[in-house]
Amino acid sequence: MRTDFSRINRDKAVFDDIYALDDPRAYFSVLGDLDYMIPDVAEPVVRQILAAKASATSVKPIVLDVGCSYGINAAVHRFPLTFGGLRHRYARREMRAISSETLVRLDRYFYAAWPDVGLARFIGLDVSAPAISYAMGVGLLEQGIVADLEKEPLSTESARIIRSTDVVMSTGCIGYVTEKTFSKILDATEKSPWIISFVLRMFPFDSLAATFAKRGLVTERLTGATFIQRRFRDAEEFESTLAALAALGVDATGLESEGLFHADLILSRPESDARAAPLEDIVTVASGRGRPIGPRYVHVGGNGGLQIALEP
Ligand SMILES: C[S@@+](CC[C@H](N)C(=O)[O-])C[C@H]1O[C@@H](n2cnc3c(N)ncnc32)[C@H](O)[C@@H]1O
Repeated sequence: MRTDFSRINRDKAVFDDIYALDDPRAYFSVLGDLDYMIPDVAEPVVRQILAAKASATSVKPIVLDVGCSYGINAAVHRFPLTFGGLRHRYARREMRAISSETLVRLDRYFYAAWPDVGLARFIGLDVSAPAISYAMGVGLLEQGIVADLEKEPLSTESARIIRSTDVVMSTGCIGYVTEKTFSKILDATEKSPWIISFVLRMFPFDSLAATFAKRGLVTERLTGATFIQRRFRDAEEFESTLAALAALGVDATGLESEGLFHADLILSRPESDARAAPLEDIVTVASGRGRPIGPRYVHVGGNGGLQIALEP
C-alpha cells in the first residue's frame, strides 16, 4: 500500500513560502513565533545515535538530512547553537535590514567562528533551491541536492552525492515525503544507512517501515518519550490534528491535547546493529535539558586534561 499523507496534510498549516526564500530570516520568525523546537529537542538524541554509529568507525559518519531546509539540523549539531538562539540573531532589526547577499556573507563568517563539535559531516536534500543554496553558501552543508523525489527520479549526479551516506535523518519532513523519497535514497547508498526519523504522531510510519524491511532494515520506535515540534497555529489545526489522531486510535491526552504537535523518534537500521545495541540502550532522554537555566559547572577538555568551568 502506498502512503497518502495528503488528507492528513490538508488541515496542517502551509508554510511553503518561508522555505523558498534566499535566507532563513522569515523561517526563524514565522516558525519561531510558533515555538518550533524540533531541531533543538532532537539534537541530544541525534548526538547519542551518531555516537553509537560512529563508535564502529574512525571517520565521522556522513549524515544526509532529508528536508534539510536552510541546514538548521547541521547548525545545531555541528556548533554550540540552538534554533532558539539563532532565532534571536535574525530577529535583530539590524539583521532584518540587510540584503540576503550580505546576510549569507555574514553567516559564513558566523558559522566559521564556532568550533565544530559535531560528530558527523552533513549533506542535505530539499525541494527548495534557495534553501540549499543558503545552507551550502554559509558552510553548513558540504553538498546539497535540490529535488522532489516524490515526483522525479534521482539524477546520476545526486546519486553520486548520496552514495557514501552513513545516516539519513529528518525532522519536520515526513508528511511532505514518503517511502517514495526514501526508496530512491536507499537505491543510491552503497552501505545500509541508519535512518533517524522524527515523525509527527498523526503520520503512520507503516509503509516506510515496510519499505525499509524489504531492504533488511528493522525499525524501532522509542517508547516513553515524545518530542515537541511546535504549537498549533490555530483552533482549526488543533481540532483537525486531534481528529486525525483519534481516527488512527492514537490517544492525544496530555500530549497534542495540550496544544502542541508531538513527534516520535523512529530508528531504522540493519538487524544486526539493532540486535547489538537496542535503541533503548543507546538513547536516554533527560527532561529539562535545553531549558534556560542559570550558570552551571561543566567539564572543558583541553591540552591540560579535563577542567571545570562555570558556563553562564
Ligand atoms: C518544516 S520544514 C523542516 C525543515 C528542517 N528539517 C527543520 O526541522 O528545521 C520542511 C522542509 O521540507 C521540505 N520539503 C517539502 N517537500 C519536500 C520534498 N518533496 N522533498 C524534499 N524536501 C521537501 C521543505 O522545503 C522544508 O524545507
